[in-house]
Amino acid sequence: MRLDKYLSLCRGCTRSQGKAFLKKGLVTVNQETEKRPERRIDPGKDQVALAGEILSYQEHVYLMFHKPAGCVTAVHDREHRTVMDYLPKEGRRGLFPVGRLDLDTEGLLLLTDDGELCHRLLAPGRHVEKTYYAVLERPVSREDQEAFREGLDIGEKRRTLPASLSLLERPDQAMVTVVEGKFHQIKRMFQARKNRVVYLKRIRMGGISLDESLKPGEWRELTEEEIERLRSLC
Ligand code: URA
Repeated sequence: MRLDKYLSLCRGCTRSQGKAFLKKGLVTVNQETEKRPERRIDPGKDQVALAGEILSYQEHVYLMFHKPAGCVTAVHDREHRTVMDYLPKEGRRGLFPVGRLDLDTEGLLLLTDDGELCHRLLAPGRHVEKTYYAVLERPVSREDQEAFREGLDIGEKRRTLPASLSLLERPDQAMVTVVEGKFHQIKRMFQARKNRVVYLKRIRMGGISLDESLKPGEWRELTEEEIERLRSLC
């Protein structure tokens, strides 16, 4: 494979950006500076580094994004900022969010260009766990906990599947884990209990926890281990 192509695949940059890195002498192949974009490399054997960082080629990109409130889970929107607006232009190609969070919900959103993995994770029968931290208008009770466990009528054909509701120190706060992804599910579950969500944040999905070092609006690539964890669910 040509070196400029390899750089663009690893870095999500354009070929001309890759060439600019080469021209500046930022790229090494097997520890030796290489400036020729046409240099052929074997991704399985040659060690390529950009500014000292060893590159590894992955067919797909997997990102963890800390979605802030006010950001739409979409690729385009006329009114609001979308998740794409938080990513560098050259790194956005082909990415889409895995599922949705409401405009006012914060927290963990996975982004990828791996359509197959996304489809599998979201398949209704897959029952991937999602955990949310919620602040409520009124205190949460043991009866609510029981009702979540039994499943709630939220106006759909079937009741929700059993969900776990953990009470926290403050009575108006709770952790909820669901295995479905119905529209406004958490808000509708609390509504069915005559309560109202005033703040919602997803903190975990499919065994991946939101990295606490990420501030709202920040993102990072998933680690190999995190990607494996997702794959193992499918
Ligand atoms: N449930 C909701 O009500 N909103 C979300 O954004 C996610 C789950």
